[in-house]
Order: sequence, then structure tokens, then C-alpha cells
Amino acid sequence: MKQSGKFITFEGIDGAGKSTHIAYVIDLIKRHDINVVSTREPGGTPLGESLRDLVLNEKMHLETEALLMFAARRENLAQVIEPALLRGDWVISDRFTDSSFAYQGGGRKLALEKLNALEQWVHAELQPDLTLLFDVPLEVARERLDATRVQDKFEQEKADFFDAARTEYLRRAAEFPNRFQVIDSTRPIPEIRQLLDRLISQLIARQRAA
Ligand code: TMP
Repeated sequence: MKQSGKFITFEGIDGAGKSTHIAYVIDLIKRHDINVVSTREPGGTPLGESLRDLVLNEKMHLETEALLMFAARRENLAQVIEPALLRGDWVISDRFTDSSFAYQGGGRKLALEKLNALEQWVHAELQPDLTLLFDVPLEVARERLDATRVQDKFEQEKADFFDAARTEYLRRAAEFPNRFQVIDSTRPIPEIRQLLDRLISQLIARQRAA
């Protein structure tokens, strides 16, 4: 695929506070006269949203869960992400494959080779240009989660699940330092916004220089 737009993903354990910053980044990019498409995973297409309902609410075998995450992702890539990048639009995704490594791999202990194989199958040639990992200590995430409405299957998981998910996220960030930016999500919002301003400006400059 010959992409000309940029692909940015938002990651973090539940309660890490990533959602607060998504709208801000979308606005930031639009202010540079760039078209932005936003999506989320699991979800992003009608089929993906149906799969989301299932996977967030039904008990199922761990491998079924991983396969459904990647099935929804395949559809999202085909219908939304790849066409947008080809048009030259930028794509913002609330979660992508790093979530599968963190939750199904770290949290549920699915062998990473299986996730690597699925990743190769579903998007061998596409990786995000920038992955913003919102990182917080577990206690902070838990406090934020406890304040939330009805909790889904993942949000009801125990501390050791999120601890393992966070560890896997940080391992991925260390493995792919070029695309990951780890953001300390306990910092004040204006400070995080300044960092986001800088990162987006750098990405725009990189695209213009290419
Ligand atoms: P959200 O509430 O942040 O949209 O995320 C939905 C939940 O799905 C969240 O708890 C993380 C989980 N998830 C996985 O377990 N694997 C995945 O591949 C994705 C995309 C999400």
C-alpha cells in the first residue's frame, strides 16, 4: 500500500486518560488544513461495532477473543484506515494492535508468537507513524475507572491483569522506540498538550520534507 497520510494510534490501559486527548489532537491536525478520519478499535465499521459488542461483553476462549479483535481490525483497515491513508487523509485510531499485545498477550498471556502471526497476516506492511502511549500507575487508572459508569468485561479485570498489560505496553514501546511516545498521563493537561503540539508539528514537518 502506498500511503501518503499519517497514521496515529492512542494506547493505554483502561483509565489511563487517553480519551481526553483524542479530540484535542484531531483539532490540532485540522488546524493545519489536513483531513482527519478518526476511528476506534475494536470497532470503526458496522461489522466491527457488532464484534465490539460481543467481545466486550461475552465470555469466550482467549484465542476467540484475539481472533475477533483482529477480524474487526481487518475490516477497519479495509473499509476505513487504508482508503483514508491512500487519499492522503490522516487517521487517528483509539487503540490498534498494541492493545492486542497488551491485553490478550500481557493480560491474558496468549503467546506473543500467535499475536505476531496475526499482526503479520492482517497488516504486515502497515504500522502507525506515531503511537501515543498514555501511561499511569495502576492506582491512578483504578481510581479513574471506579468513577466510571457501567464497566465492561475488561474494565472489571483485577490489578494483576492491568499490571501485565501495562508491562507489555512498555515492552512494545522499548521495542519500537521510533514510533512510540510514552506520555506520563499523571502530568497536568496543559503540559501534555504542549508535548502533543510538538509531536504533531514534527510529524507534519516530516511529511512536508518527504
Ligand atoms: P476502549 O474502551 O478504550 O475503547 O477499549 C475497549 C476495550 O477493549 C479495552 O478494555 C481494551 C480492549 N481491547 C483488547 O483487549 N484488545 C484489542 O486488540 C483492543 C483494540 C481492545
